[in-house]
Amino acid sequence: MTPSPSVPAELRSLNGHLFHVSKAPDKLRHLINDLSRAAKYISYAIKTTEAGLAGSVNMFGEEQVKLDVLSDRIIQEHLRENLLVSSYACEEHDSIVDLSPDAPYAVAFDPLDGSSLVDANLAIGSIFGIYEGKEIIGHTPREQVAALYVLYGPRTLLVYSTGSGVHEFLLNDVGEFILLREHLGIGDNAKNFSPGNLRGIDESQGYRDIVESWLSQQMTLRYSGCLVADVHHIFSKGQGIFTFPASHKYPQGKLRHAFECGPFAYLVNQAGGAASDGTQEILDIPITAVDQRCPLFIGSKNEVQRLCTSLAMKK
Ligand code: F6P
Ligand code: MN
Repeated sequence: MTPSPSVPAELRSLNGHLFHVSKAPDKLRHLINDLSRAAKYISYAIKTTEAGLAGSVNMFGEEQVKLDVLSDRIIQEHLRENLLVSSYACEEHDSIVDLSPDAPYAVAFDPLDGSSLVDANLAIGSIFGIYEGKEIIGHTPREQVAALYVLYGPRTLLVYSTGSGVHEFLLNDVGEFILLREHLGIGDNAKNFSPGNLRGIDESQGYRDIVESWLSQQMTLRYSGCLVADVHHIFSKGQGIFTFPASHKYPQGKLRHAFECGPFAYLVNQAGGAASDGTQEILDIPITAVDQRCPLFIGSKNEVQRLCTSLAMKK
């Protein structure tokens, strides 16, 4: 996991990579740098906040802030400070939050994805989608100008794209994100499967058929319960499929379009994979509300296609 020493030092830092390799516009580079800085504080908070837990009281009798609320505040403060964001949408607020009216970007984010796994000490993450303009409503995820996620696991990783591939960085001991892999690609065929909401097999013969085909092919099961970790597994291994269909319990699916499905659809597409809600590409579904949900089938192209065909044949 040591970055290649043949890559010049200035291209290995996140800022250097954004500037020299991705050639991101300055304001976008500053925004991504600021989000990465917020992620460092979140990474630190995860390690140091007392069990990181909700509503608990610390040794001084003070109420502890939930880690997901804290993460939201950390990101919010960074966005408020930099004057680059006109508005944002995130999991912790029901409606769009206005920031700097004349700023160039709008951001959708999930501050702490998988936060229910904190007490189990499993990996969790933050997800960001960046759009030009005043707000994200009415846009499609294809219009994102960048997307990134941060995975807080045994190590903290950041993965971003500004539209020319997907790049992976590792947070080093002195607090700098350093290039780990220049390009993450996703092959067309899956050997791993990550099947969310298996309740759906009782309601869709097509979903049941495909899950049974994965079992009979003896594909490898990888499911942690954190979207960031599960999709990062696909990026890391260069193949795989993650599914989260709708079901009686989640009639529209569970995952949020603006800040879960959308950013990952952008990133997976950049890596050569595909993302669908079963009938259309996630990238083309307009964002109509902050809490809009959609089913998600994402990863290796052929497997996503096979799944969509199976769903279409047998409802
Ligand atoms: O944010 C929702 C989330 O925590 C995702 O990270 C994850 O993929 C999903 O829910 C897991 O849902 P379940 O616990 O139903 O498997
Ligand atoms: Mn989430």
